[in-house]
Amino acid sequence: MTFDVSRVRAAYPALNDGYAYLDGAAGTQMPSAVIEAIAETYRLGIGNMGGAFPASARATGIVAECRRALADLTGGDPRGVILGPNMTTLTYRLADTLSRNWGPGDEVVVSRLDHDANIRPWVQAAGRSDATVRWAEVDVSTTELPVTQYADLLSEHTRLVAVTAASNIVGTRPDLAAIAAAAHEVGALCYVDGVHATPHVPVDVAAFGADFYATSAYKWSGPHIGAVVADPALLETAPAGVPGRFERGTAAFADLAGVIAAVDHLAGLDPAAAGSRREQVLASMAAVEQYEGQLFAQLLDGLASMRHVTLYGKAARRAPTAFFTVAGYAPHHVADRLAARKVNVWHGDNYAWELTGAFGLREAGGGVRAGLVHYNDEAEVDRLLSAVAELA
Ligand SMILES: Cc1ncc(COP(=O)(O)O)c(C=O)c1O
Repeated sequence: MTFDVSRVRAAYPALNDGYAYLDGAAGTQMPSAVIEAIAETYRLGIGNMGGAFPASARATGIVAECRRALADLTGGDPRGVILGPNMTTLTYRLADTLSRNWGPGDEVVVSRLDHDANIRPWVQAAGRSDATVRWAEVDVSTTELPVTQYADLLSEHTRLVAVTAASNIVGTRPDLAAIAAAAHEVGALCYVDGVHATPHVPVDVAAFGADFYATSAYKWSGPHIGAVVADPALLETAPAGVPGRFERGTAAFADLAGVIAAVDHLAGLDPAAAGSRREQVLASMAAVEQYEGQLFAQLLDGLASMRHVTLYGKAARRAPTAFFTVAGYAPHHVADRLAARKVNVWHGDNYAWELTGAFGLREAGGGVRAGLVHYNDEAEVDRLLSAVAELA
């Protein structure tokens, strides 16, 4: 299929402001259908859940449909979809619950590839429980997270392995299935941070081996809502209970309506895709992966040809996210210069605190991140490349 990016771009009103939004890894824009779904919820009237009147029934319906939409996006079970404000909050919540039975001698494995949101909640929970933290290291020369190290890291003491499905700065996509299999072999749970991967690849929580899969809708054209997808049977065994009991307070119903519309948007990215919404999501995300891969090659080739640019990220399987430094310029200066050229990029450590440390970039202020999503196009990549070329 040829990916019709101009059709896709037309769905996003914010893209008309003349800026190249290459900051998608920090949050995407919203298509009109998502904005409308949120506005329509308020327009129609919305009540709290469990009341006797239609506006209340609408809230109940939105929550149920939102769980179904997230299950279609990830291949999970709607009964195991936990909704919340964002991934970080939910991960802290899950870490609190899952660590309740940890004690001295128990171990948790985190990785230096991860965003801090999938490290600190586990490190702090381990600290409270007197459990031990073990670190999976990134091979800085390849930016891979070698699977082989997990044989040494895991033992019958391991309670949980936290790992990302994709690095939010260099895009590395580790071999999740192998890591999860190793975790399961010793009886540990695998908590996967899917925030960066979800916008770029077809997701299948079972194939990934994720006991918990966290995602954030604002990274894939939705509003600021997070979700964790788990096996409902597993949630039953946790000290808290099935989704509702992990969800605190009243939900943001209108935003949840926006999440449903965002999943529908993703499902429709390949207009030829047919079948159930799950099947359409899988076909559309495969088309997205292919399209973004081509655009990413253009971006990487362009940056690699510039002698004043140092590129980080060499993994074999990557999300389309480039991380680089420019000789003679601090990352925030590069971002300023690009903003003046109407190119949005992110700069700093991007909360990949451990990985920027492993790259030795902390003192230098991190790096510059250009993250592609499905609404970016060749002209935007060219604009970024020209703006970076000016800094030679
Ligand atoms: C890979 C990754 N994990 C976790 C997070 C945190 O997500 P949230 O903002 O939903 O808490 C981010 C956000 O940038 C991310 O990129």
